[in-house]
Amino acid sequence: MVPWVELGKAQIPNNGGELKFSQRGEEFSIRLSGIRGELMNSRVYNSEKELSRLGCAHLKSTNKAHVLVGGLGMGYTLAAALNMVNDSAQVTVAELIPEVVTWNQGPLGNCAGNPLNDPRTKVHVGDVKEQLISHQPTFDAVLLDVDNGPEGLTQSDNNWIYSPAGLQDIYKMLRPKGVLAIWSAGPDRLFSLRLKKAGFEVSTQVVRARPGKGSKHTIFLAKKR
Ligand SMILES: C[S@@+](CC[C@H](N)C(=O)[O-])C[C@H]1O[C@@H](n2cnc3c(N)ncnc32)[C@H](O)[C@@H]1O
Repeated sequence: MVPWVELGKAQIPNNGGELKFSQRGEEFSIRLSGIRGELMNSRVYNSEKELSRLGCAHLKSTNKAHVLVGGLGMGYTLAAALNMVNDSAQVTVAELIPEVVTWNQGPLGNCAGNPLNDPRTKVHVGDVKEQLISHQPTFDAVLLDVDNGPEGLTQSDNNWIYSPAGLQDIYKMLRPKGVLAIWSAGPDRLFSLRLKKAGFEVSTQVVRARPGKGSKHTIFLAKKR
């Protein structure tokens, strides 16, 4: 059995704990310290790609589309978003933890085909919230996979994103017909209601962790009217 080798560690801001980055042969893992378990594994990424396929489905023929991805993780959602838009698009990826960006510039890069090297990619090292509070219609799609669902996991500050105030701000900074797509480990009826109250047209899709098999995850799709 090939042993895990630790490649790096990173502090999560606001006492959020620690991330551990390790490798076993061709496989990479990012874990959250304590009992919170594995955040990402390089072998399991179908639902992360589905987040982009569903959230950017309306953008295939849009000129100068602007997409926001939060966070980077292992780059699968970013790479899939780049595949959904044309050459005139820009995809901004916001990543809270600088080391995650460094790991993607290094050993993790090949996993998702080095999406950070794509000229359409712009990296924002910092909280995705900073991109969400402009109150100006800026993005055609916002794809969020920063927690396990609509509840702050990586850091408690992320709870703002899923709150009525956060959803209202996101509504304002989406362009007309823009889509907010959120990855979740499972459904959440109350969160769907909160999205509707913020003005969105809401649907959910069940997606699998691996193509056609594995755990069932939920993608919330919230469209600006
Ligand atoms: C589950 S991973 C994302 C996986 C990603 N979808 C992929 O395809 O690999 C969650 C990422 O979100 C980042 N993150 C958590 N909270 C964030 C925030 N408020 N702003 C930006 N990034 C955040 C974490 O550091 C981590 O890299």
